[in-house]
Amino acid sequence: MEGINSIRDIAVEGKRVFVRVDFNVPLDPNGHVADNTRIVAALPTIRYLLEHGAKVVLASHLGRPKGQRNPKYSLRPVAEALATLLNQPVLFLEDCIGSEVEDSISEMAENSVVLLENLRFHAEEEANDENFSKALAKLADVYVNDAFGTAHRAHASTAGMVPYVSEKAVGFLIEKELEFLEGKVNHPERPFCVVLGGAKVSDKIGVIESVLDKADRVLIGGAMAYTFALAQGRSVGNSRVEPDYIELAKSLLEKAKAKNVDLQLPIDTVVTNKVDFDGRTLGELKIAEGVIEDGWEGVDIGPKTAEKYADFIRNSKTVLWNGPVGIFEIEASAQGSYKIAHAMAACEGTTIVGGGDCVKAIHQSGCADEITFLSTGGGASLQLLEGKPLPGLEALKTRTSL
Ligand code: 3PG
Repeated sequence: MEGINSIRDIAVEGKRVFVRVDFNVPLDPNGHVADNTRIVAALPTIRYLLEHGAKVVLASHLGRPKGQRNPKYSLRPVAEALATLLNQPVLFLEDCIGSEVEDSISEMAENSVVLLENLRFHAEEEANDENFSKALAKLADVYVNDAFGTAHRAHASTAGMVPYVSEKAVGFLIEKELEFLEGKVNHPERPFCVVLGGAKVSDKIGVIESVLDKADRVLIGGAMAYTFALAQGRSVGNSRVEPDYIELAKSLLEKAKAKNVDLQLPIDTVVTNKVDFDGRTLGELKIAEGVIEDGWEGVDIGPKTAEKYADFIRNSKTVLWNGPVGIFEIEASAQGSYKIAHAMAACEGTTIVGGGDCVKAIHQSGCADEITFLSTGGGASLQLLEGKPLPGLEALKTRTSL
């Protein structure tokens, strides 16, 4: 984290510390927090600031309300969930800027917590508007970014306001995300095995390119495996493919060879003659080896592939997983992803799950507690794994312009 302060470097006692967190959490039909993982992940930073006498002002977005005030996306339920977790009151404010908000914050006692209303109720947040950035900065003596999941967005609260606050730092969650997704991935204990799944090669090009410079072995699964299969001249029936990316898949296979990376593709596939996403069911199922016939489509890695991949994973010292290897939302085609999850749990090395859908798959498999690190970022973890800068972190390197 060159050029970026940790909160340990800043005296926070008695100061208004504005913390950008990522409380973009799912709500259940009754409007209660359905999964508090991201709130729990922000607790170490919040607790540290409270223990050091700060006035903690938390800000986040929730969903995509498109600049409109919409009660469906209110952060009020999050304030309740947070108060329970902290075992202390959390004052919820109905807006995130303006004189009333400023007054409430100026009346805060040390060791107290305020949660502002959804930043995205103002279109200026996502537009990274200068005046809105300044209005947010008025609430802060110190700025802390701990919203890893939103660090790939250059918005007012993640980037725009930062130059207008004199003291700034990164929180413990971002530190931890960087320790694993950057530190352990860029300097892995070997053998280093990467499991890549997901629907599209086009979504993962950057990550594949990047891991080919670091990994000893790359295991491909998910629908993107069918585009690779086409690149090898194999027929894939009605499987989901990206014809425009066949040439790219070919060049990635060649690049892996040139770099001496063992890139593995599935040797067998679970295929079906019908996928019903809404009903979460599949038609008839069978295992295809080599060729997938017309009228059938691949939905998961087959049992032989799963066994082979699991062996590689168990025998690695570092494993990174990004993207489910089958349609994990449907139980019958989640088995390959579960096998990967269990192998990661059994691996004695460092195991890292790179956010988004495969974190859900890990939770579904019941192995979450046995994984070394589960990222809280989706797009942010992808961008970091691609080796691209994150605007939320870059902003913390900028000079103050008061
Ligand atoms: C996420 O859930 O990936 C982050 O909170 C960012 O949300 P966004 O994709 O709506 O910007």
